[in-house]
Formats: sequence, C-alpha cells, structure tokens
Amino acid sequence: MPSAIRTTLLPCGQAVPVLGQGTWRMGEGRRPKAEEAAALRLGLDLGLTLIDTAEMYGNGGAEEVVAHAIAGRREEVFLVSKALPSNASRAGVVKACERSLKHLGTDRIDLYLLHWRGGVPLAETVEAFEALVRAGKIRRWGVSNFDVDDMEELEALAAGAGVQTNQVLYNLTRRGVEFDLVPWCRQRGIPLMAYSPVEQGELADNAVLARIAGRHGATPAQVALAWTIRHDGVVAIPKASRPEHVRENAAAADIVLAAEDLAELDRAFAPPTRPRPLEMI
Ligand SMILES: NC(=O)c1ccc[n+]([C@@H]2O[C@H](COP(=O)([O-])OP(=O)(O)OC[C@H]3O[C@@H](n4cnc5c(N)ncnc54)[C@H](OP(=O)(O)O)[C@@H]3O)[C@@H](O)[C@H]2O)c1
Repeated sequence: MPSAIRTTLLPCGQAVPVLGQGTWRMGEGRRPKAEEAAALRLGLDLGLTLIDTAEMYGNGGAEEVVAHAIAGRREEVFLVSKALPSNASRAGVVKACERSLKHLGTDRIDLYLLHWRGGVPLAETVEAFEALVRAGKIRRWGVSNFDVDDMEELEALAAGAGVQTNQVLYNLTRRGVEFDLVPWCRQRGIPLMAYSPVEQGELADNAVLARIAGRHGATPAQVALAWTIRHDGVVAIPKASRPEHVRENAAAADIVLAAEDLAELDRAFAPPTRPRPLEMI
C-alpha cells in the first residue's frame, strides 16, 4: 500500500504528489532495464506515483523502462511524458504520442508536455494537444522550459488556459525562476514541476546541506528535495536508479525545514534579486 505523500492540485483539480520520479538516463544501457524498472516500482510502493519521462530519453528507451515498471499497476501511476519540439506540428504530435503510448505500453498519458519551444507555432501545438485530449490519448497537457514571456504568449491563446504545469530547472543552485516565473505561475494556480532537483546528484555532496542534514538526521539530497517542495505548488521529480536513493527521496517528503535552516540556505545559495533568463539543462 503506497504511503501518503503530500499532494498539490493541478488547475484541472487533479491532485498529484509533490515528489515524483524522473527517468532521464534510464533505458540507455547504463544499468540493466530490470534494475531501473525495479527502482521505479520501489518508488511507487513508497508513494512516488508521478513518473516523468520523455520520448527523447534513450530514444524511447526510458519509456520502455517505465512500461516494465508500471505493468499491472497503471491505475496507481500519474504518467507524464514529453514531445520533442521537432515533433510539435499538428501531425507530428499525434505520431509522437502514438509512439510514446506504444513504448509505455498504455492507452493514455496523464500529462503530455512540450519538451521545449521550437519552430512550430505554439497555437498549432496546443490545438494538437487538445485534439489528443478529445481522442482520449492524453488526459491533460502542459509545457516545459517556458520562461515568463512564453507563458504569456501561451496564456493569450484561445486554448491556453488548458496548461497544467511548466516543468523547469529548479533547485538551490538554480533559483532564478523565483524572481518572476514562480510568482507568475503561483498567481494562476499552475504548479511548477522542478527538474534536476538535486542538480544531477551534485547537491548530495554539498557541505552546507550536510550540516543542515545533520540537524534533521537526514542526508544532503533529502534537504535539497525538502527545500524544493517547501512551498505548495511545486512538484520535484528526482531521478534515482539506486534503491537507497529512492528510499531517501521518498522520505524527504516528511522533512520540514526550520526558519534557521532556510536562512542558512539563503546565505549559501542567494535568491535572485533581478530577472535572469531561464536556465535549462
Ligand atoms: N524538461 C526537461 O527539459 C528536463 C531536463 C532535465 C531533467 N528532466 C526530468 O527531471 C528528472 C530529474 O532530473 P535529473 O535526472 O537531470 O537530475 P536529478 O534528479 O537532480 O539527479 C539525478 C542524479 O542524482 C542521483 N540521486 C538521486 N537521488 C539521490 C540521493 N538521494 N542521494 C544522492 N544522489 C541521488 C541519481 O543517482 P542514481 O540514479 O544512481 O540513483 C542521479 O545520478 C529527469 O530524470 C527527467 O525526468 C527534465
């Protein structure tokens, strides 16, 4: 029985856990697929029921790992995948989605994102997403790597109000979005999905985080995750292929940082004082 992890609401009213699981670098032959799928299944057992993947990851390989992980447990999972901007045309989105569904071994994606902006007009991509919703292939759609100006352009479109999330790079070392994008999304009730929340593993070795972690009987990575989800309206999607990392990450949901911890983190990782262009990995 999955344990309860705090949830946040998408604009459509769907509750999603504030901690999920990433899959970039899975399905690329670094580890046996069965091990990677087992790590995701352990995460599901621990309540990390949102799984983020993309057609780009391992060229469909990560989606195939997810297929193994969710076989027989599809109803437990909130499945997020992404279309490449080169596939974001009216016809391209449909083909990309069909391919992803095949790789994922499922008949629908819960949240389908445009991975980043490319040359296809945004209105065309959004209309294609809406058509996929009507066809029952996806439940909802959203975007990724959109800065405030992109979000404003999206908001101005007829179907723009359908956006459910913006997935962006956000962690202690990447706080630029706090200046403008985070408040912009919060005002509209659009949760941010924070990718690379432990800066691809780097924050696990940070001395300041280690000191704070010591006060909580936690690990530095757990402090990084607890910080990322400290406010409502943020979902963090750490990727972990080692079971000990999965366990740590799930337990991070229970850590509440004190004012003293937050002040120490602000001193070590200064919040932005002016707008900065959106960073991407
Ligand atoms: N939309 C986009 O453009 C975009 C871009 C980047 C990422 N993403 C998504 O966001 C997910 C997360 O980002 P990410 O994979 O770049 O980086 P990340 O989640 O910040 O870091 C993953 C790395 O950290 C390690 N790790 C995880 N938990 C740990 C823990 N508790 N202690 C120590 N190390 C730990 C993992 O090791 P092990 O695997 O060995 O356990 C892995 O090497 C991706 O997998 C992907 O789904 C989206």
